[in-house]
Amino acid sequence: MFDFSGKTAIVTGAASGIGEAIAKELSACGAYVIVSDLHDNDCAKTVADIQNDGGKAAGFAADVADAEAMEALVSFAEKETGALHLAVNNAGIGGAQATVSEYPLDAWRQVIDINLNGVFYGMRYQIPAMERAGGGAIVNMASILGSVGFANSSAYVASKHALLGLTKTAAIEYATKKIRINAVGPAFIQTPLLTENLDQEMLDGLAGLHPMGRTGTASEVSALTCFLLSDRASFVTGSYHLVDGGYTAP
Ligand code: NAI
Repeated sequence: MFDFSGKTAIVTGAASGIGEAIAKELSACGAYVIVSDLHDNDCAKTVADIQNDGGKAAGFAADVADAEAMEALVSFAEKETGALHLAVNNAGIGGAQATVSEYPLDAWRQVIDINLNGVFYGMRYQIPAMERAGGGAIVNMASILGSVGFANSSAYVASKHALLGLTKTAAIEYATKKIRINAVGPAFIQTPLLTENLDQEMLDGLAGLHPMGRTGTASEVSALTCFLLSDRASFVTGSYHLVDGGYTAP
């Protein structure tokens, strides 16, 4: 267990899957969690689960692809708790499946808006708040597809590769200002993003791509994320950390 007592954390995409697991683990370790997702009722369930377990949380609906909403989310966190110390820019979508020459233009823009621009908008306002708080830590949710390609997923792959460049650059800029910024690269994880879009045969096929012979769980991604946010990772910044069952090892 890590100690996040007295810390406030924003988690985007916290109504489901990996973000929900991270929000709950941060809260179990003492953080006050601002649970953010697209709609109020999406946030409310995670908030209620945290509060029922004795944790502290508040919901704030915000579309990560809307810069003003990201600014409002940070303002809410500061007004609600006094300061912002931690952020997980986790919200993301898989997008359309098509070859590059057939990729729908609107689907491309949507993936880039959410998976890449959304992380920029998040950090654009989180970083000044963390400077006001005297320091902080950010984790941006990339993917194994931040470092390798995957057919028919060009927008997703491009967004996650670009997210790594954004993460490294921000980390360099704020390395001496007590703000650490890292990225996490999960392989295929059993969340609605995966299970709601693929049938069992496809899921089994994906499991076989991992040397461990299985897909991962949201709590396995949360464990790494919480480590990177914690003071135990005090010399870790600007880097990309895989949690992939060996996917990228061969
Ligand atoms: P999920 O679909 O279970 O959860 C994503 C959450 O993000 C949902 O609650 C959704 O409402 C929210 N969201 C979507 N668009 C949003 C927007 N514009 N603004 C605010 N919230 C929005 O997905 P999962 O699997 O938990 O994914 C979380 C992150 O992990 C994503 O960035 C994804 O790319 C990444 N990831 C997931 C992997 C997987 O296999 N599940 C593998 C590698 C990375």
